[in-house]
Amino acid sequence: MGEYRHLTVAPVGSCIGAEIGGVDLSEDLADDVVAEIRQAWLAHLVVFFRGQHLTLDQFSAFAHRIGTPGRYPFVPGLPDHPEIIEVKKLPHETINFGGIWHTDTAYLERPPMASMLLAREVPAAGGDTEFANMYAAFDALSDGLKDSLRSLRAVNSSALADVSKTREDRIADAANAGHEAGEDYEAVHPVVRTHPETGRQSLYVNVAHTARFEGMTEEESRPLLRYLFAHQSRSEFTCRFRWVVGSLALWDNRCAMHNPINDYHGQLRVMHRITFEGDEPR
Ligand code: SIN
Repeated sequence: MGEYRHLTVAPVGSCIGAEIGGVDLSEDLADDVVAEIRQAWLAHLVVFFRGQHLTLDQFSAFAHRIGTPGRYPFVPGLPDHPEIIEVKKLPHETINFGGIWHTDTAYLERPPMASMLLAREVPAAGGDTEFANMYAAFDALSDGLKDSLRSLRAVNSSALADVSKTREDRIADAANAGHEAGEDYEAVHPVVRTHPETGRQSLYVNVAHTARFEGMTEEESRPLLRYLFAHQSRSEFTCRFRWVVGSLALWDNRCAMHNPINDYHGQLRVMHRITFEGDEPR
């Protein structure tokens, strides 16, 4: 998985995820340290850091070393930091934000390259996030199915019921603060995308956003999509991350999915999230 001169990089699972040590992200990092973080991130798809109690300015400054922070369409960012959104579940709420397997905002024409989450308040128990490797999910399919999928494109929508309900509490907060609800989005993307940096092919559908194959009805698409949704979240493709305050995760939306687990009713969980501008999937 590569040589590192400035960091320690310890795999979290055999398939995806690594914990990076030996770096303080609040500092003005040297270019070769940032290059090694990117190297580990491209190799492991999601990298985790511990003990990063960053101010909003420091979090934003680190993000600018990794890519170009973008905007999330449904929830406004923090005052003075519109690139940072709060991902939270309050003790009386029962639905967690994004609580379904997905890759971020696949319904945009140019979905985000990556996302970064920094833990501010965590439950005493529960609230882990799972991540899944979509190169491995694609590689594990038969050659016949791989060939068929390479010729398909899929319609991705922001309006599917299961994912829409995971944003309702935060959209209600935004409405109470005077922000208008956003429109729905739809984008057609290849079912198998080629990563622009690694050149590897990965499966690019997800149960939260993918409605149907282009040129087919939802009913016609459903059997194969159901198979792919079950296949891509098999535990052999995943790792699971336990958050403590100051934990930071950086994941690659071009080849990984994630699923925040909703097992902490009655407790508060607050994270700060930045997403990074990305390319049109090809
Ligand atoms: C998200 O989908 O960005 C939320 C992830 C999480 O809360 O762990």
